[in-house]
Order: sequence, then structure tokens, then C-alpha cells
Amino acid sequence: MKQELSKQLLAFLDASPTCYHAVDALKEKLLSNGYRQLWESRPWRLAEGGRYFVVRGESTLVAFRVPRRDFQGFVLAAGHSDSPTFKVREAAEVPSPGACTRLSVEPYGGMIMRSWLDRPLSVAGRVMAAEDGRIVSRLVKVDRDLLVIPSVAIHMDREVNKGAALHANTDLLPLLGGAGEPGQFRRLIAERAGVPEDTVLSTELFLYPRTPGTLLGLNGEFIAAPRLDDLQCVFGCFRGFLAAEDSGSVPVFCVFNNEEVGSGTRQGADSTFLTDVLSRVSAALGRSPEEHHAALANSFLVSADNAHAVHPAHPEYADKQECPVLNGGVVIKYNANQRYTTDALSGAVFRQICREAGVPVQRYSNRADLPGGSTLGNISSAHLSIPTVDIGLPQLAMHAAYEVAGVRDTEALVRAMTAYFGRSLRFGPEGVEVS
Ligand code: CO
Repeated sequence: MKQELSKQLLAFLDASPTCYHAVDALKEKLLSNGYRQLWESRPWRLAEGGRYFVVRGESTLVAFRVPRRDFQGFVLAAGHSDSPTFKVREAAEVPSPGACTRLSVEPYGGMIMRSWLDRPLSVAGRVMAAEDGRIVSRLVKVDRDLLVIPSVAIHMDREVNKGAALHANTDLLPLLGGAGEPGQFRRLIAERAGVPEDTVLSTELFLYPRTPGTLLGLNGEFIAAPRLDDLQCVFGCFRGFLAAEDSGSVPVFCVFNNEEVGSGTRQGADSTFLTDVLSRVSAALGRSPEEHHAALANSFLVSADNAHAVHPAHPEYADKQECPVLNGGVVIKYNANQRYTTDALSGAVFRQICREAGVPVQRYSNRADLPGGSTLGNISSAHLSIPTVDIGLPQLAMHAAYEVAGVRDTEALVRAMTAYFGRSLRFGPEGVEVS
């Protein structure tokens, strides 16, 4: 089995302990591929054939290419940069019983809490510091085993295997060290961020699991790693975006922060960021508002967020015919109540593109009596109302500290997105033209 692509995915996951690092890694790759960074706070000048990206909140990114010919619409795909984890509070050190110091944390998003116990952890994020009359941001990653959240021994908690509750405010504070002298954690962070400690104004730090991702299974057919939701989709869409041929549309790659907490932030999918970017692209290319609206009517969005594979021990959580399998291909998500945006039209467009690219497609719906989760698609639709399909790659253990997915599915997504980003769509009275 070809594993090269999955090794590159593992490297991306490893370089992306937080949403800030994920966006930074994408930025590096874009810069090395001839993309130029635009700033929201400055005027934009765009050229035909130009390649650009813009970042908001250091954790949300939109990249696009201007075609050399007149374009008729935008072909977009979006994933998310964040994953459930624990956020470290600024008053971080908590003196604890047993001559120990623990870190004060609170959950970010909905994680499987027990999966964070009894494994080496560390801290990464960003630090805001005062420097030469400015406030600057520095990414920080403590690249060593630093923390652990120890379980209570089974001898003291005989019910532990019967689903005993974990409380975020008591059970999940990671062990940092001995009683020691206070202030060491702050010193460590300042030192790793490369700034003098007394210049640190604020921090945004998160826990990350130290266990590196790996390929496993008899034939290396599975990938097990932290943050596959949603960095596997981000990686697949990004590779497709970079590889796609020019078409008569503007290809737009997006990655949003804060999906795991409802997207309602300045850099979330429920913000004006994407619509702001698209109108600025049109305006900078001298297009009228009328032409911009016509272009939006010839646009399409792929909302890419990982999906649930049928669990080998618990197939009862899926309805028959609606249960994707690992390595079975890209999943299209459906929901009668439109918690997933896919409808007959958007499903047909995406299915047709996959068919032409020879990419296998699977279907997913939540079990009909379970509510299930939602994702970027319908949130983004509130701002950018264009045909949207919700897709994902099948995975197990979603929102565990260590998740499992299929090696072949990453390849399938790259192929699908390479085809998709090279297409343009025209929605007319005689139907949809995909060229
Ligand atoms: Co997700």
C-alpha cells in the first residue's frame, strides 16, 4: 500500500499541535509555492494569475488563485483547524495535595475525557508580548513530555470500568511537577516563546498529546493520530487545492477555527470573514456588485469535516446502508433536517465530480433516532448562501485524544479535491454545467 501521502499527513499533524500551528504550517507551504499574504487591514491589489492568502486571528486562513482568464464563479472547500482539547488558564499553577503542582485547565470543545488520562502531554499555543512599543504574537510549543493526568487507581475506584464520571475541575488537571517554587511554568513558556518573561501580556495555551501519530494494521492500512478531525480533511483539501489545474473559476481553500465550539467567533465559520474575502476579491479585480452576485450564483462549497465509520464493536449506532467503512472512500453526509447541507443538487454535483475522477463515494446519515453533530456547512450557508455539500473521511473514536482513520481515504480525498478545484460550474436554466 502506498503510504507516502499518509507519512506527509503525519508530519502535518505533528507540526500542528494547535490551530495556530496548523495555520502556520499551511502558511509556510503557501509561501514556498509562490502565494503572497494579503492583510485585511491594507488595500488589496490582485493580478490575473496571482496566488494569495489571508489569515484572521492567526487560526483561520483563506487561500485563492486568480485565473488568467475571466472567471465565472468560486469553487470553495472548507475544513476546520481546531480540535477538542484543554485550554490552560493564565493563572496556571495549582498547588495540589501530595506535594504536587497541577495546571489549571478547562475543556475546549467536547472531547472523550478518559482518552486524555495516563499519557504524556505537553503545551502549545501563542503568547502575546510587548516588544518595541508593539504587541506581538509568538507561537510556542513545549516540545517535550511535560504533563500527565493520572487516573485514580482501580483499588480506590472499583466502578471505574462502569463509566465513572470525570469532572473537568478536579479529575482532569494535569500534573506539572512537585510543590516547587511558583512561577516556573510561566518562565518556561516565556523562554520557549523566546520573549523576556516580564513582557508577556497574555497567553492562549492548549494541551496536546505527545504520542506521535502512526500507521498501523496488518498492511499499514490505518492511521492513528491526534487531531484527525479535522486536519485529515484540511490536508486532503489543501493538497487538492495546490495540485488542481486552472479553470474558469477562482479556487478557494478555507480553514476555520472554533468549529468545535460552535463557530460563532471573529475567525469562525459563523463570521463575515469568507464573504468579506470574496467581495474584496471581486472588487480588487474591478467587478461590479452585480457581477459579484452573478459569480456567487455560479459558485459551490465543499464543507469537509470527518465522518463516523461504522464501529466494529458497535454497528448498532449506524443504520444499515448509511454506515461508511474505513478505506471505503469519501463520505457524503445527508440529514433530512438539513443539519448537513447536502441536497439532491449539491450531492449530484459532488458525486459526478468523484465519478469522473474515479473516487469511491460512501453515504452517511445519523441513525434516524439520534440527533448527531453538525458542522461548518450550514453555519457558513447563513453568510454565503450557495450550493454546499457536506463531506468527510470516515474515522473511529472521533474526539478522542487519539483517533483512527483509513490510509486510502486520504488519497481518495486528494484525488477528489484535485478534480473539484480544477472545475468550474455554471448554474443555468438548462441545468448545471460542470466543466
Ligand atoms: Co470536525
